[in-house]
Amino acid sequence: MNERIGVMGAGVMGSGIAQVVAIAGHEVVCYDIAAEALDKGRATVDTGRFGVKGAVERGKLTADDAEATLGRISFTTDLDQAADVDLVIEAVPERLDLKVGLFRDLDRRCPERTILCSNSSGFPIAALSAATDRPDRVVGWHWASPAPVMKLAEIVRGPKTSDETIETVCALAANAGKNPVVVKDQPREWGYVANRVYFAMVREAQRVVREEVATREEVDQLMVDCFRWPTGPFGMTRGAGSGWS
Ligand SMILES: NC(=O)c1ccc[n+]([C@@H]2O[C@H](COP(=O)([O-])OP(=O)(O)OC[C@H]3O[C@@H](n4cnc5c(N)ncnc54)[C@H](O)[C@@H]3O)[C@@H](O)[C@H]2O)c1
Repeated sequence: MNERIGVMGAGVMGSGIAQVVAIAGHEVVCYDIAAEALDKGRATVDTGRFGVKGAVERGKLTADDAEATLGRISFTTDLDQAADVDLVIEAVPERLDLKVGLFRDLDRRCPERTILCSNSSGFPIAALSAATDRPDRVVGWHWASPAPVMKLAEIVRGPKTSDETIETVCALAANAGKNPVVVKDQPREWGYVANRVYFAMVREAQRVVREEVATREEVDQLMVDCFRWPTGPFGMTRGAGSGWS
C-alpha cells in the first residue's frame, strides 16, 4: 500500500530516508527549517554517493525508476504540508527538547490517523509519546547510515505503542528492503539495542587510547582485522557523522 510520508529534517539521515521510502513507491514530503538543507538533501538524493543516479550506474535502479523516485519527493519549509501525511519519520538533530517540541507540534497538525516515528539514535520513545495525545501511534524507527544501503530497522515499541502501529511500520520497513526487528523501549537507557551495545565498545576503545595501549588508528585496524568489520569504532563514528561521503 502506498502511503504519503512526511520526513522531518533533510540532513544526513532525512535525505537518505526520503530516498528509500520514495524508491519503495511512497509519496514523500521532506521538511526542514533551512532552505539550504533542503537543496543539499535534494542533491544528495539525486547525485550523492548513495543517491539514485549512482544506483542507476551500479545497475540497482533503472533510469525511469530514478526519475520517478525524484518525482515522488517534494521538499518544503512548510510544516503543514509535511504534516498532512499517513506517517511521519522524524530525523532532526539528536536533541530531546527539539524532538519533544516537534512531536507536540506534529500531534496538533497531523490527521488523527498519522503514525509518528522517530529516527532518534536512542532517546526513550516514552518521552516523545508523552508529548502527544496519540501514544499508541508513536514508535521508534531507528535507521543506520547510509540509509539507502544499511538494512537496519530497529523498531522501538514505546510503552503504549499499539500492535497495529508496530505491524504497519514493520511492513513498511520490510517493503522498503529493510530488516525490521522490534525491541523494547528502555526509559532509563540511551541507545535502544544497537547503539547501546556499540557505545559500550566505543567507551572501551576510548579507554584503551587514554591508557596509551594503542592509538585510535591501531584500534580501528585491529577491529577490522579481527572481526572483518568495514571500519573500526573510531572510523564508524566519523563515517556516521558525515554520511560516509
Ligand atoms: N548520522 C547517523 O549516522 C545517524 C544514524 C541513525 C540515527 N541518527 C539520528 O537521526 C537524527 C538526524 O541525524 P542527522 O545525522 O541526519 O543530522 P543532520 O544534522 O545531518 O540533519 C538534521 C537536519 O534537521 C534540520 N532541522 C533542525 N531543526 C529542525 C526542525 N525543528 N524541524 C525540521 N528540521 C530541522 C537541520 O536543518 C538538518 O538539515 C538524529 O536524531 C540522529 O541521532 C543519525
